[in-house]
Amino acid sequence: MDIKAEIEKRTAEIEKVINAYLPVEENYQSRIMEAMNYSVQAGGKRLRPMLMQETYRLFGGRGQVVEPFMAAIEMIHTYSLVHDDLPAMDNDEYRRGKKTTHAMFGEAMGILAGDALLNYAYETALRAFNMSVEHIRIAKALQVLSHKAGIYGMVGGQTVDILAEQDGDLTKEKLDFIYRLKTGALIEASMVIGAILAGATKNEQKLIEQAASLVGIAFQIQDDILDVTSTMEVLGKPIGSDEKNHKVTYVTFEGLEGSKEAVERLSKEAVDCMETLVVKNEFLTGLLQYLIYRDK
Ligand code: IPE
Ligand code: IPE
Ligand code: MG
Ligand code: MG
Ligand code: MG
Repeated sequence: MDIKAEIEKRTAEIEKVINAYLPVEENYQSRIMEAMNYSVQAGGKRLRPMLMQETYRLFGGRGQVVEPFMAAIEMIHTYSLVHDDLPAMDNDEYRRGKKTTHAMFGEAMGILAGDALLNYAYETALRAFNMSVEHIRIAKALQVLSHKAGIYGMVGGQTVDILAEQDGDLTKEKLDFIYRLKTGALIEASMVIGAILAGATKNEQKLIEQAASLVGIAFQIQDDILDVTSTMEVLGKPIGSDEKNHKVTYVTFEGLEGSKEAVERLSKEAVDCMETLVVKNEFLTGLLQYLIYRDK
């Protein structure tokens, strides 16, 4: 399988799904819709909706009920980036190859666009109830989405990340906690929601959650590596952001080589974990392996 070509093909399909769920820019408040659409349509790898859709397929999911959730997870992820880039947080000017939302629309609109995307994500996911699928699965998927995005997930992780930057008291154990929450949680949500909507069993959901957590931690370590080794042109966001913010990252603790090894080790553990399942999805396994050596 030409994994790169397959990723491109799927990304284009996912873009169509996401675009179909974005708000119309209208009325006195149209500026907020512009800012929302700007940040989502700036691009990005669409990894979370891709993982969700492929996990859904892995467990035999065939319908469209996953689509509002794919749009919703990308909205929540994008809001987390819009707020992460704000002056009060990482203070970054570029994202996805374009000016960050606050740099383009002003700080107040940056804050509101994040709020708006978070809320609209739930409005969007709730549209799944208009589709003829067991409502209990949709309700369970919403439970996972809200839990993993909030104080026990992404927001919790970002909180400890910012506090550690201010207090300078980071241990390796706390760093692992941060990565599991700030980045791992939304990846766990993506894959677990795909599994739930397709009707996976509780045990299968647990296994997927474990694998996704490993993928998420590896993904954040790779993000730290690329912050040191890549270029703005390739990444679409400034390199050296962590150093600028005096951020202690995985690279600070383990060095570049140690970090690369960790990405490989964690990703292989994730693939091994997935391979204990009876069901298979060749593309999904290929995608997880591809991520180990991603350059953006
Ligand atoms: C960036 O996520 C923030 C992290 C959690 C590391 P991505 O690298 O998935 O960003 P996009 O969506 O492709 O822009
Ligand atoms: C942020 O981590 C992860 C989020 C939950 C937004 P980073 O601050 O390292 O993400 P980038 O490098 O700005 O994309
Ligand atoms: Mg950050
Ligand atoms: Mg950042
Ligand atoms: Mg980073």
